[in-house]
Amino acid sequence: MSAQSSIACDIVVFGGTGDLAMRKLLPALYYLHRDRHLHADTRVLALARARLDTDSYRQQVRRHISQYVAQGDFDEAVWQQFAQRLDYMPLDVSQRVEFPRLAKALEAGAERVRVFYLATFPELFAATARHLHSVGLADERARIVLEKPLGQSLESARQINDEIGSVFDESKVFRIDHYLGKEAVQNLLALRFGNALFEPLWRNAHIDHVQISVLETVGVEGRGGYYDQAGAMRDMVQNHLLQLLCLVAMEAPVHFEPEAVRNEKRKILEALRPISGMDVQDRTVRGQYSKGSRAGEALPAYYFEKSVDHDSNTETFVALQVEIDNWRWAGVPFYLRTGKSMAQRKSEIVIQFKSVPYRLFGEGRGSPMHNRLVIRLQPDESISLSLMAKSPGRGMSLQEVELDLNFAEAFNKRRWDAYERLLLDVIEGDATLFMRRDEIEAAWRWVDPVIQGWQDCYRSPKRYAAGSWGPDAADSLLERSGHAWLDER
Ligand code: BG6
Repeated sequence: MSAQSSIACDIVVFGGTGDLAMRKLLPALYYLHRDRHLHADTRVLALARARLDTDSYRQQVRRHISQYVAQGDFDEAVWQQFAQRLDYMPLDVSQRVEFPRLAKALEAGAERVRVFYLATFPELFAATARHLHSVGLADERARIVLEKPLGQSLESARQINDEIGSVFDESKVFRIDHYLGKEAVQNLLALRFGNALFEPLWRNAHIDHVQISVLETVGVEGRGGYYDQAGAMRDMVQNHLLQLLCLVAMEAPVHFEPEAVRNEKRKILEALRPISGMDVQDRTVRGQYSKGSRAGEALPAYYFEKSVDHDSNTETFVALQVEIDNWRWAGVPFYLRTGKSMAQRKSEIVIQFKSVPYRLFGEGRGSPMHNRLVIRLQPDESISLSLMAKSPGRGMSLQEVELDLNFAEAFNKRRWDAYERLLLDVIEGDATLFMRRDEIEAAWRWVDPVIQGWQDCYRSPKRYAAGSWGPDAADSLLERSGHAWLDER
């Protein structure tokens, strides 16, 4: 992964002036350039409707990159070289007549790999693919990258997949879920399948329950227009949280290759017990933040965010109790939780093992007598295992202590951003960390009835104060089974 790519390519970014391009894609490409992972002849062509020339576009990108790369990583000389790879062309993707211009611009590199990155609204995916096809750009060497959200439901996702599939072979379609590009997420695979230690314990006989939390302190960050239509279930659960769940729960793939890994993930999605009808009330909680505060700073209510409907019923928080109906996991609840404007930013997976079968040292001494593995993805990347140990002094009083591994300290290397890794994988044609069509559709098949159940019961989301840990009902969801979220409140 540290070598320079041997593949010269044209990376064409649709939505080149958008938030994703400026905050994630271009900074990632800057790093790939700086660290010499891009082939010397690789070019980046950004497209958007704005009538800009390349110079003013480059200035805009320079401003963003210097802001979004880590402190001290912006280097003027590196930028000047990177800028030479970067061009801009105004183009309205909805207009087929504009595409011959694009074909002409790419003519010079007819033998190169072409990556078409659609960082646009999904409503534009199908037209973009058709127009690329109409000018002969959807050929053997083309790869198309689709950003989430892929649809709003199973039906709309299928429609997009059909339309893309009529132009691009599935092997050329890279559906991004940037969580799969995170180092710590891949470390979860390393932990499970690179160590013999955990595998015998990784099942219902030894695991009591699993918690997967992705909590953010940010609100909707100016994306109210999109978010108010989507909500946390479509924005986070359908993709990121279910993908994390798949990686925790899947069987070992036969090879670490795209089809083998994706087959195993799909089996988990298919084994999720449906939540529909009355179950929706018992096994899900949806919330929306009202005004609140964090560390003395006042925080607005969701319905005051820009472009959000004042009467909005959209959820900004979801908690779910999920069951996986297979031999390995029957009877083990997986609690999933995500929310915006929360007390703390943290993404973590908690594997709670069962208690010891018999308390040799007596009741009350060293409660709770179970081990816990915490895989933390954000803000820092670490793995910790809690063990019971004897507290120093007389008598056998036990106490929980933690074995901690912090990856930044262990490796002392810059952590790659998910997009760096994923962009390089697309260039190299490796789809292991991308979602296959059937996975996306299986996820929607499970998510749709939950959303339908919420709509059918006409209940508004439960309010929680911005800056808090979410609605009380999310705590009750676990308390009913004698569990509690692992938070330092
Ligand atoms: C995106 C969601 O996919 O992931 C955002 O659309 C969310 O709403 C973001 O904020 C979280 O990503 P990360 O990498 O910051 O955890």
